Amino acid sequence: MDVMELPRLESPEDRVWPKLLKAETRALSFSYGHRLALKNLSVPVEEYKITALIGPSGCGKSTFLRCFNRMHDLYPETRYQGEILLYPDNRNILARDVDPIEVRMRLAMVFQKPNPFPKSVYENVAYGLKVRGVTDRRILDEKVEQALRSAALWKEVKDRLSGLATSLSGGQQQRVCIARALATDPELLLLDEPTSALDPIATANIEELLLDLKQRVTILIVTHNMQQAARVSDWTAFMYLGELVEFGLTKQLFTNPSKKQTEDYITGRFG
Ligand SMILES: Nc1ncnc2c1ncn2[C@@H]1O[C@H](COP(=O)(O)OP(=O)(O)OP(=O)(O)O)[C@@H](O)[C@H]1O
Ligand SMILES: [Mg+2]
Repeated sequence: MDVMELPRLESPEDRVWPKLLKAETRALSFSYGHRLALKNLSVPVEEYKITALIGPSGCGKSTFLRCFNRMHDLYPETRYQGEILLYPDNRNILARDVDPIEVRMRLAMVFQKPNPFPKSVYENVAYGLKVRGVTDRRILDEKVEQALRSAALWKEVKDRLSGLATSLSGGQQQRVCIARALATDPELLLLDEPTSALDPIATANIEELLLDLKQRVTILIVTHNMQQAARVSDWTAFMYLGELVEFGLTKQLFTNPSKKQTEDYITGRFG
């Protein structure tokens, strides 16, 4: 990547912090067996904004995201410390008395590789609603259409709702996954490198979609594409080796980072 010059740092007092939070981690640590993958991370997630997590491969971005829906619980010998709070009810996702299923009902996640079920487009999008016990065909039809419209896919698939989702293009499949995630009205949308398997046009479509979606849902997105973070996010957290190096307004972090490590990473000097 090209090395670009940045303006000098300003004083830390000039930095701002999110006001209305949808979620935040407080001193979050996580280990896989003896391997400590996240170290004491405190990251705020502002409501109806896009927060990007960036950092080199292996720094813990996916691990961090998976803590939110307690996906690690599915594997043995994993350990969480600290808190992940969901607002406005102040619910600690990691508390022992919290049912992971209840947590997963409030959040939705989209992964790097499009992973639609080998079912029709309609069944993919209706899936989460059916799991939640919705059986009324009229409600299902309405919600499916709404979610597909929100995912900017309705026009392309409205005449092929009963066709297999797996036979769509990669970009369309990823939008099916986004529609599937949106159909259940999640409070927080977690996206793990959602465009890394897509071409530039499909990527641009999804980025545009995210900017529209944030009016309705809070978004936490992992990307190792810094241009993408700069284009779509309001806030950026830069992680390195399981630690949070710097968090700030995206504009500020990219033009005026306060840490040398951040500057080296975003200017492509990272060794
Ligand atoms: N299931 C697992 N068991 C043990 N260690 C794991 C597991 N998954 C990830 N790790 C380790 O945790 C660390 C963080 O991995 P993670 O996948 O969260 O990184 P990442 O930032 O998402 O990287 P990438 O950009 O390559 O996706 C790495 O050292 C990785 O080897
Ligand atoms: Mg990852």
